Amino acid sequence: MAKARTAYVCTACGADSGKWQGQCGACGAWDTLSEIVLESAASAKAAAPARRGGWAGKVEAPKVTPLKDVRQADDLRVSTGIGEFDRVLGGGLVEGAVVLVGGDPGIGKSTLLLQAVASMSSELPGLYVTGEESLAQVAGRGKRLGLPLDGVNALAETCVEHILGHAARLRPKLIVADSVQTLWTETLTAAPGSVSQVRESAARLVRYAKETGTAVFLVGHVTKEGGIAGPRVLEHMVDAVLYFEGDSGSRFRVLRAFKNRFGAVNELGVFAMGDKGLKEVPNPSAIFLSGGSRQPGSCVMVTREGTRPLLVEVQALVDSSPLSNPRRVAVGMEQNRLAMLLAVLHRHGGIAVGDQDVFVNVVGGIRVQETAADLPVLLAVLSSLQDRALAEKTVAFGEVGLSGEIRPVPNGEERLKEAATHGFKRAIVPKANAPKSGSYKGLDVVAVERLADAIDAAG
Ligand code: TYD
Ligand code: MG
Repeated sequence: MAKARTAYVCTACGADSGKWQGQCGACGAWDTLSEIVLESAASAKAAAPARRGGWAGKVEAPKVTPLKDVRQADDLRVSTGIGEFDRVLGGGLVEGAVVLVGGDPGIGKSTLLLQAVASMSSELPGLYVTGEESLAQVAGRGKRLGLPLDGVNALAETCVEHILGHAARLRPKLIVADSVQTLWTETLTAAPGSVSQVRESAARLVRYAKETGTAVFLVGHVTKEGGIAGPRVLEHMVDAVLYFEGDSGSRFRVLRAFKNRFGAVNELGVFAMGDKGLKEVPNPSAIFLSGGSRQPGSCVMVTREGTRPLLVEVQALVDSSPLSNPRRVAVGMEQNRLAMLLAVLHRHGGIAVGDQDVFVNVVGGIRVQETAADLPVLLAVLSSLQDRALAEKTVAFGEVGLSGEIRPVPNGEERLKEAATHGFKRAIVPKANAPKSGSYKGLDVVAVERLADAIDAAG
């Protein structure tokens, strides 16, 4: 028997390689190449005729269509019934879209998707495929949450061929595969859960979705590093990748668009997990701010995630370190950025924290990825170091440059408006983002140009 065709795929970047190497030639990561079976010899033979349009040799030529006549995906959006979920998807679910939803176990992926499938079932009859929970568990949850389950079929199955067989018969308009790590295809001999099985099974579902216009949600578990388990190639295959995040101790959950062919990336949707499942939080700014007076080490910032501004609290703790190499720990922002900001604080602000441990945390499990967090982080660090709270009702945003300049950030006015709406009185912002009059809708705007100005403004 002929040997099965194999190749190697990097689990870090998804690049293919013909032979095994210790280091990935594309991304340079070590020990990430994993063998995948492309096709067993028998299945390659069996699949060949179908791919070439059957033995008759008829190949249907694709038609050329004027672009302006092509139906637009935007016309075909269906609301998931959960406003925040729609927002992250870019305004509802596009028919035929394949969406990968990743997150830690227990974060609420199955709950969110069951709610969405049930709510869309009148427009998009759904097939919920569960490879992890029993049908009784899924149904029990649906009933307990009082979901309309009439148009939802469920299937406890992990073999892709069987799933697609049922789909061909039932013709659902929406399929949920929970989870992609449990799927396997008969054409490969590799063990279920292996990189090749996950990749090939997902590819089959994607192909089915594109051929039939069926929308597909793939649920994926994330690894310790925060990526979706399996090859990165999954992210390239699908139309959108959403991550479901949140502190295990908090009931708030954040859904973030990491990639979206139909909407803005970094768009956030905020949910609260309660005894009746996930509820959307339409005005999230309010929940990320702790009530009561500000303590030393805290600064409220206006971040802009996706298409809306959001008020979040940044906390810092600066404490003398017993270590020769003091710690710099950042939760919710990039660690290297923190180290860079502390260097700027030393060099251009004359404030040294070389013998101090510095911890920074973005409250509420939010991950801030934009540079507008620079100034608030430095103000929080300064406030903790000096053990002096910032003035009540103060917000800040702005990028800090390596030469100590405070640089403007996009959508300044929108951020000021969000702060004013939530009753803030004072904003410390880059000069180019500040209105000439020095105030904005009752907000006293302090324009800063250099780090030294910001340190003065904070004091
Ligand atoms: P689940 O959707 O099963 O998570 P995932 O699919 O991401 O693994 O969510 C499970 C968690 O959610 C579990 O810890 C219980 C909690 N939960 C609630 O608090 N309230 C609810 O109404 C439901 C359905 C779950
Ligand atoms: Mg689950």
